[in-house]
Amino acid sequence: MAITLPAFTPLEDSLWLTLCCRALDNRRSHPILGDTVADQIVRTLDYDYRRFHVDTNFINNVALRAKKLDEVSAGFLARNPVAIGLDLGAGLDTRMVRLGPPPGVDWYDVDFPAVATVRESLVPAHPNARVIGADVTEKDWLEAIPADRPALIVADGLMGFLTQEELASLLDRIVSHFPSGELVFNSYTKFAVWAARHAPGSKSVADLIKFPGIDDPREFERWNPKLKLVKEILLSREPEIAEFPPLLRLYYKLQSLSTSWSRKGTIILHYRF
Ligand SMILES: C[S@@+](CC[C@H](N)C(=O)[O-])C[C@H]1O[C@@H](n2cnc3c(N)ncnc32)[C@H](O)[C@@H]1O
Repeated sequence: MAITLPAFTPLEDSLWLTLCCRALDNRRSHPILGDTVADQIVRTLDYDYRRFHVDTNFINNVALRAKKLDEVSAGFLARNPVAIGLDLGAGLDTRMVRLGPPPGVDWYDVDFPAVATVRESLVPAHPNARVIGADVTEKDWLEAIPADRPALIVADGLMGFLTQEELASLLDRIVSHFPSGELVFNSYTKFAVWAARHAPGSKSVADLIKFPGIDDPREFERWNPKLKLVKEILLSREPEIAEFPPLLRLYYKLQSLSTSWSRKGTIILHYRF
């Protein structure tokens, strides 16, 4: 397929890092996520993933966090089969394809307009899926989404690129737009922000990180009292760690003994409102 990719901004370009990690995960004999469509997109474009120099640990973290976000999303959509699904900063993620939600669910993928255009030509179309080309920090884009149904809002790899003020304002607008719903995203403690700025795997996005990091997951409840923490998922304590290579497995096993140490790694925060 001949696709001419537009010149993305560095922020938009960050989508390749996570997409390539999911594709590389899929190429292993025992993938964590098994995202065949991500792999197909990377192969179709013959995208040079080697430029990221990602190691096994980084690939595992991206694949596992996507899997955990999918699990929370699937649970909500099974309980709310006529809900709205919203993926913020969706990039070229194929979450809707992976989830295969009930037919009553309407799904919206939101990302900058240039990404939205490319998405429409690369990600398989679905009658219930729409792409919104918008900056999530702006106010108007939510108006295109029905406000009378419960909503599942998922964001994978977005929050690190927002300032605290932008994130707080986005959460307020989401919570006041929908009658009820659940919100799930990967978050970063202050240490994790520092680590992301210095780790080789995230070098390509290090200068784009604006989020200062939040150490206490209850902090978001204080930002908006309608948000109630359902669960903090610490990847070090998830069963898939048992499938990691021996040294990584040992590292996460030790990390899992301490909540504050586990929070230095990848965490998923799940709220309802
Ligand atoms: C690391 S990528 C993750 C993409 C996708 N969620 C995934 O897991 O592959 C971050 C994405 O967030 C998008 N993004 C960052 N800031 C945004 C904003 N203010 N509005 C809309 N999209 C944004 C970028 O364009 C990019 O696609």
